[in-house]
Amino acid sequence: MTSKEIREKFLEFMEGKGHTIIPSASLIPDETDPTVLFTTAGMHPLVPYLMGEKHPGGNRVANVQKCVRTGDIDEVGDISHLTFFEMMGNWSFGDYFKKEAIEWSWEFLTDKKWLGLDKNLLAVSVFSGDENAPFDEEAFDIWKKLGVPEKRIAKLPKENNWWGPAGKTGPCGPDSEMFYWVGDPDKVPESFDDDNDLWIEIWNDVFMQYNKTNDGNYEPLAQKNVDTGLGLARAAMIMQSKDNIYETDLFAPIMEKISELANSDDIKSKRIIADHIKASVFMISDGVEPLNTGRGYVLRRLIRRAVRYGKLLGINKKIESIPSSIEGEEGKDSRRQHFNFFVSVIAELVIEIYKDIYPELEQNKEKIFEELRKEEEKFGKTLEKGLKEFEKGTDAFILFSTYGFPFELTKELAKEKGIEINEKEFDKEFKKHQELSKTASAGMFKGGLADSGEKTAKLHTATHLLHQALREVLGENVAQKGSNITAERLRFDFSHPEKMTDEQKRKVEDIVNEKIKENLPVICEEMTVEDAKTKGAIGIFDTKYGDKVKVYSIGDSAKGETLFSREICGGPHAKSTGELDHFRIKKEEASSAGVRRIKAVLE
Ligand code: SER
Repeated sequence: MTSKEIREKFLEFMEGKGHTIIPSASLIPDETDPTVLFTTAGMHPLVPYLMGEKHPGGNRVANVQKCVRTGDIDEVGDISHLTFFEMMGNWSFGDYFKKEAIEWSWEFLTDKKWLGLDKNLLAVSVFSGDENAPFDEEAFDIWKKLGVPEKRIAKLPKENNWWGPAGKTGPCGPDSEMFYWVGDPDKVPESFDDDNDLWIEIWNDVFMQYNKTNDGNYEPLAQKNVDTGLGLARAAMIMQSKDNIYETDLFAPIMEKISELANSDDIKSKRIIADHIKASVFMISDGVEPLNTGRGYVLRRLIRRAVRYGKLLGINKKIESIPSSIEGEEGKDSRRQHFNFFVSVIAELVIEIYKDIYPELEQNKEKIFEELRKEEEKFGKTLEKGLKEFEKGTDAFILFSTYGFPFELTKELAKEKGIEINEKEFDKEFKKHQELSKTASAGMFKGGLADSGEKTAKLHTATHLLHQALREVLGENVAQKGSNITAERLRFDFSHPEKMTDEQKRKVEDIVNEKIKENLPVICEEMTVEDAKTKGAIGIFDTKYGDKVKVYSIGDSAKGETLFSREICGGPHAKSTGELDHFRIKKEEASSAGVRRIKAVLE
């Protein structure tokens, strides 16, 4: 089944259930909405209607929405993650609720008339309940009635089975997710396991009953809504019996071209190039331009990342052959200039695949090529300058920080020339630099806090405890590589070469919980960077000599207690560790080479 057929089937099915089919909204959210940079889900442009406004199409709508999410950028290149994707979705604005939503999802997935998936390869999950909302027994019972075995109905907490709000505040609620087993069908496990990557999430039915407010509370919404999202690329992967989304008809011609141009088999780099260029094409078409801030910065990063991976694969800067389809009105020469650059060659294929569905791509073709060419050229110059410096023997880190010259390329070049590079030294400098740019750029690539509410502050304090506990259990080599905290959970990235054992995880949890039990005071002092260093504070030293920084200490040395942790940090924090609930590590996984990621909650 082609992706075009899947789209059509979905819309036909939903139309048959009384939905008005609406067009995809732009990737750029309404200017009045400051909560997100891009449309990240189909529900996003529909927020006013989920909040009670009347939709001109009535109270049931469906569509296929273009989405961009950069949160998963490090996972792009695996079998199923993308920065740009299309989401098929149906919505009820105060009309039908759980029963219909679930029954229809099941019908569309399993009925022979529609996708006809094998029921034995499907599993689902429902919300297990917490202080904000109860266990979703209703959804559980509906699945059971449909014949899904209980073992295949996982009950999972908010971290898994809660969706939204898309930004900091707004509509949200418990959800029910559907998973398809992409491993050997003869080895399909009896029950669903969240940690097994062979269960791929394909559809999410969100039951929007709450509005999350600025202070982190969940207020019941006056109208109960349904918001569902079914990833097109994942559906295509399953329907086309492919091992990964890059082999589906949404990517195959792009991947083929990249392979033709490359002189390496590095599949992950090829996939990253394909994803990033596709995302860039759609972003430019919707009006984004490469810049150093905001949306433009996301675009710039995607294009440059694609170019960089292109270089690593040995894709030549000059592409001699021009696709036959590009002879336009302004004549061959003006068009030729774009196609001297590989990004445009790939972009042409992206437009080819999607132009029937998104006619704006064809209309904006010139602009797309123009922006891509300019950016590739600019980046090319950066690289050229860097190359000259490299030949003069400039240090790898200076090449990176001053000339924007990617370290991977420096490594490649050094290898060619038989020069040794001190990777450790580079990593050390890089870490400092990374933290610095993180603090400097508030906003989308901001690690750190989603808000300054009480729950977030508590999780922030838990993060300091975790950091120190990790250093005690795994050693002083543990250094913070990133942190992202919301009112629901903390996420902490740190340097460590291998997977943590269960025993290590338990030890870390025990230390943190012990410190919580001890109800240690969290004390904030201002001091100079020099003083902070002398006092052994860990954290980011990105301020100039003499500048004052805030230092948060856990434990009170004045009272004769030994300090447990001392960290340079902007806050906010809990006043004492006793305010924190029980600490639990939910997941420990690789984030990138040599960096681990922990997700944890207070419950
Ligand atoms: N908003 C939900 C999601 O993105 C369902 O569409 O998964």
